[in-house]
Amino acid sequence: MEKKGKIYREEKILLSKKNKSSQNGGEISLDGKKIFVRTFGCQMNEKDSERMVAKLGMIPVSSPEEADVIIVNTCAVREKPEHKVYSEVGKYVSLKERIKKDIKIGITGCVAQLKGSELLKTGADFVVGTHALHRIDEIISEVFLGKIVVDTSLTTNLSDRFESPIPYSFYDGSRVKAFVTIQEGCNQFCTFCVVPITRGREVTRPSQDIIREVIELVSLGVREVTLIGQNVNGYGWNTPGEISFAQLLRELNKIDGLYRIRFTTSNPRYMSDELISAMAECEKVCEHIHLPVQSGSNKILKKMARRYTVEEYLEIIDKLRRKIPGIAITTDIIVGFPGETEKDFEETVKLLKTVRFDDIFSFKFSPRPGTVAARMPDQIPEEEKSRRLKFVQDLQDKITLEKMNEYIGKLEEILVEGPAERNRDKDMTGRTRTGKPVNFEGKVEVGSLVYVKITEAFRNSLRGELVRQN
Ligand code: SAH
Ligand code: F3S
Repeated sequence: MEKKGKIYREEKILLSKKNKSSQNGGEISLDGKKIFVRTFGCQMNEKDSERMVAKLGMIPVSSPEEADVIIVNTCAVREKPEHKVYSEVGKYVSLKERIKKDIKIGITGCVAQLKGSELLKTGADFVVGTHALHRIDEIISEVFLGKIVVDTSLTTNLSDRFESPIPYSFYDGSRVKAFVTIQEGCNQFCTFCVVPITRGREVTRPSQDIIREVIELVSLGVREVTLIGQNVNGYGWNTPGEISFAQLLRELNKIDGLYRIRFTTSNPRYMSDELISAMAECEKVCEHIHLPVQSGSNKILKKMARRYTVEEYLEIIDKLRRKIPGIAITTDIIVGFPGETEKDFEETVKLLKTVRFDDIFSFKFSPRPGTVAARMPDQIPEEEKSRRLKFVQDLQDKITLEKMNEYIGKLEEILVEGPAERNRDKDMTGRTRTGKPVNFEGKVEVGSLVYVKITEAFRNSLRGELVRQN
């Protein structure tokens, strides 16, 4: 349906509109134009923002005033980040009205996928969902031809979904770390989660393509890759003929010049012994796992449709700690899920005290459109959710600081990422293998491995003295 300079590409009409856009796409050159991207949400979104900039070949700028195109790449996982989208877009629309009439403003990502053309009310020129990002160049060309574009069409074409041009910023050798997508979408349908709706069903990237991308990144100086997806440790389970996640780690571990491998997010449901062994045996795989538990109550886990029990989760933690000494374990917690009683909440508190996670991301349950939990009875009042959230956060602050203090006196291998945020002239920063940020004084090569003796610990970082370079 194309009317009055507007293009709507939704699921049903994808094919009929595809050619139209590419005809127009050739007429406008985006070369030399400047782009500003504001990213909300998870690593998938960060990666998508990078993909879009690379695909467009435009010059990234750090202030919206300088840009020809502004993109707000959005997150729908909770209400709060979703609301931020509206205020953020509002700022740019006002900039457009006041001083930069020819600037083009777009909304991409999960909120775009969910809300589609409704978002045109904000004053945006284009709205592009999670499955159409590979067409961003055609879409922006159409926008420069005066059209308004909404594209929330879906695709299962693997090469489109995983198309991953290398951003220019990697070509000067200064990028030490990179995200590499190995899966897209999710089939789990946890009852609270909107991701299966915004990102669609799970698709698996062929392992050969993943390996090829990592080799290319390493040839450009990248030393650490983080494999990303919604359930990375379930990689390959639904794809006949594909290798398992453990085998993928073993393949990547062979790549010369790559120093470190990380991955996120893992699902307790797919935590196999084969994987724990691969993690223990592959020297490049870092000693850190993010393993969202969500709740310490079996009743709530069941209502969430997480498909594991607290006892099974604790058994996994135990195995990980036995096989991988010093492993850092982080998690996600939701408080105030519908029907969560004081007793259920206390079970979550007990779990936090038992496991003593290195850190947690904790959230108040937020009802999301189209999810089962949003319609469940016994929703918890906002003030009670806030009280529970504060309680777990205060408890975790204490545990995290105690855990950070345990690093004092230890010699840690640090991958140097660049100058520190504060004291840039003197200090450099990097991370331990367990993922803790470490600042230290000294001038060493970015991308090198050094050893730092930890002397001070804070809630979110460590400080130490450079002992030797590798
Ligand atoms: N597997 C995904 C999870 C995405 S959502 C990943 O790759 O990280 C990230 C976290 O947000 C979840 O683990 C959960 O703790 C939280 N979350 C998701 N939906 C939520 C909701 N409706 N309310 C509150 N927190 C939510
Ligand atoms: Fe969401 Fe559960 Fe998938 S948290 S991303 S539905 S594993």
